[in-house]
Amino acid sequence: MTALSTPAPLQAPFMRPGMAALPGSKIREVANAALGRSDVLAFWFGESDEVTPAAVRDAAAQALQRGETFYSHNLGLPDLRQAIASYCSALHRPLAADRVAVTSSGVNGLMVAMQLLLSAGDELVAVVPVWPNLTAQPAILGAKVRRVALRPQAGAWRLDMAELLAAVTPATRVLLLNAPNNPTGWTLTRAEQQLLLDHCRRTGTWIVSDEVYERVYFDAPCAPSFLDIAEPDDRVIVAQSFSKSFLMTGWRLGWLVLPPAALPAVGVLLEYNSSCAPVFVQRGAMAALASADDFVPGLTQRLKAGRDRLLAGLTALPGVEAAVPRGGMYAFFRVHGQPDSDDSLALAQRLVARHGLGLAPGAAFGPEGEGWLRWCFASQDLARLDRGLARLAEALRS
Ligand SMILES: Cc1ncc(COP(=O)(O)O)c(C=O)c1O
Repeated sequence: MTALSTPAPLQAPFMRPGMAALPGSKIREVANAALGRSDVLAFWFGESDEVTPAAVRDAAAQALQRGETFYSHNLGLPDLRQAIASYCSALHRPLAADRVAVTSSGVNGLMVAMQLLLSAGDELVAVVPVWPNLTAQPAILGAKVRRVALRPQAGAWRLDMAELLAAVTPATRVLLLNAPNNPTGWTLTRAEQQLLLDHCRRTGTWIVSDEVYERVYFDAPCAPSFLDIAEPDDRVIVAQSFSKSFLMTGWRLGWLVLPPAALPAVGVLLEYNSSCAPVFVQRGAMAALASADDFVPGLTQRLKAGRDRLLAGLTALPGVEAAVPRGGMYAFFRVHGQPDSDDSLALAQRLVARHGLGLAPGAAFGPEGEGWLRWCFASQDLARLDRGLARLAEALRS
């Protein structure tokens, strides 16, 4: 009898190539260090402190009481797909339910879109800094991510359109856009969207447009969307979420709008990813859409109050540089003259360890975000923002 030898301990190379290099979330790195501390004022995650509206919770609870505990169609409940199509049609150009896929969160929908389009070695061009999941997803699939940077100029984040157009060539499989942008609040104008759509029609490039903050927009009821200008058969996929505009982050529900011809393949991909979103969650979403007109504008007003309060406080602090975001839930700012001004992870770690202030380091959003900090202002309690500002002021003095 041969003795069994002890297997070698698992080390990174057991994973497929590329996985070991996948960075963990730097936001979590800061937040995890503060686990168990109740004194920290946390503004690091992208969610409001308000609970989901009662009508939405009631609808989901009633669905559970009725025993709606089974699978649904891969693409979602037909009634919900129709309700989403009607909601989008009211905001944009008319669109039919045969372009809608319900997904188990915005991030799940985005991953499915990437799986639909990207093979290993394909090129994706992304406008950055951006929510890190958006560049990690193509990297997981082995695609090459080419970054085109927004730059802060005269109090706003700006895109060099000529640079982006030059970067998107017939070799570019996907142009990835997130506007309103997390973390900068940068938005695309209608004219810029048209230019990009025309260009991508020429190069044969798909546009994946993450528009989850379209209603968290402070200049109009809705930010410009590719759904306003694209034809159903354009190579355009718009990703959406119930998380932000309906206060449903923990529910994990979103949707994609795609060309009708893409829907069958997306249904197949959803089967292998999650099979379907939970039915009671989908019922809650139907209640959310039914009350959208009553609910969303008020939420946006509260978020705008948070933005105004935080930006006024930040820009009054010596050495702070911040652009006023036109959309999204975040102030993206930098502090000059501190020993750790250029090391956002060290600065965020110092703020939480010594001052109980929880912010996200800009480096979490790519090298272009280094030296910046992100502060989520989705706080219904404005005094909480003031307390955070006081802690930042104290940190900058010490
Ligand atoms: C830009 C962006 N896209 C998508 C999402 C995904 O939202 P969810 O997965 O909660 O639907 C987020 C969440 O923070 C985000 O900031």
